[in-house]
Amino acid sequence: MEITILGIESSCDDTSAAVIRNTTLLSNVIASQAVHVKYGGVIPELASRAHQQNIIPVVDTALKEAGVKADKIDAIAFTRGPGLLGSLLVGTSFAKGLSIANNIPMVEVNHLQGHILSHFIDLPDRKMPHPDFPFLCLLVSGGHTQIVKVSSPLEMEIIGSTIDDAAGEAFDKCAKVMGLPYPGGPVIDRLAKEGDAKAFAFAKPHVKGEFDFSFSGLKTSFLYTLRDRVAEDPDFVEKNKADLCASLQKTIIDILLDKLIKATKALGIKDVAIAGGVSANSGLREAVAEAGRRRGWRTFIPELKFTTDNAAMIAISGYYRYQQGMISGLDVSPVARLEEIL
Ligand code: KG4
Ligand code: ZN
Repeated sequence: MEITILGIESSCDDTSAAVIRNTTLLSNVIASQAVHVKYGGVIPELASRAHQQNIIPVVDTALKEAGVKADKIDAIAFTRGPGLLGSLLVGTSFAKGLSIANNIPMVEVNHLQGHILSHFIDLPDRKMPHPDFPFLCLLVSGGHTQIVKVSSPLEMEIIGSTIDDAAGEAFDKCAKVMGLPYPGGPVIDRLAKEGDAKAFAFAKPHVKGEFDFSFSGLKTSFLYTLRDRVAEDPDFVEKNKADLCASLQKTIIDILLDKLIKATKALGIKDVAIAGGVSANSGLREAVAEAGRRRGWRTFIPELKFTTDNAAMIAISGYYRYQQGMISGLDVSPVARLEEIL
């Protein structure tokens, strides 16, 4: 049976809509919000307003590109959380309106689960390699850093997570200190390619939890290095930008890989995936692929367009939930924090 799902994502600063038929992606439209760049971070109120402006044209374009009429959709999948409440409200309310107007059921999706299930999206011209269950997923985004054991599309267990900052936050905050634009992750990634990763040494954490992470110590150590060196030479950051970026990126990757390797050993799992915005990082992608070659893992590195926030991942998650009859009522409301992965 063919199932067609419209996915809507509005949890942070990207308004996105996608159409999927079974597991094959028919369209994936993303409107990014440039309005936040000059503030050096996402301003929630401005994000909600931009979503409100973008959502109708984005959904309309996604349906047109897919060649699907609104009344031919089987279900509307939307991000219920976690994310910015005002942003989530726009997507959720829009989904409700479309649901009532066309008598189509709604399916709520956890954004984090969406990132992970992006590994099951197929493209019209090619089948993608998918991990076998159970697999381990290193989920690294702007708000979360977790190791998740994935037993099926609907059974996930967080086995490790950050006790303070997320990896993406470490990238973004350190970039801000260096005067780099928001979001800092992609800028650091680019500058790091020209730098020496051994130039500077930053603190690596000792975290009690076997598979847990911490990034706040690294951030402080980065900040202190900059403060001390800038006191000696005001041009220090400008002169050493590439080396600072390369060293910082290498430290973040080492912290992530250390725990990921530990988890694969402890659980005896050799299918290993990465997901979330930070999985766009070229250094991390190479490091995971290399660890996989050395340790006999099958590694799953997402296409760049599925790493940062997108509605294709919400649509594929909605597909699996709809198949199981997991429909949401019209009284569903968004949740800023969702501790559970399901
Ligand atoms: O998944 P995502 O788009 O949104 C959240 O759910 O948080 O992740 C955004 C995060 C930001 O912190 C951004 O700096 C980071 O992903 N990011 C990167 C790269 N591209 C995006 N971090 C490092 N290297 C990149 N190439
Ligand atoms: Zn995300």
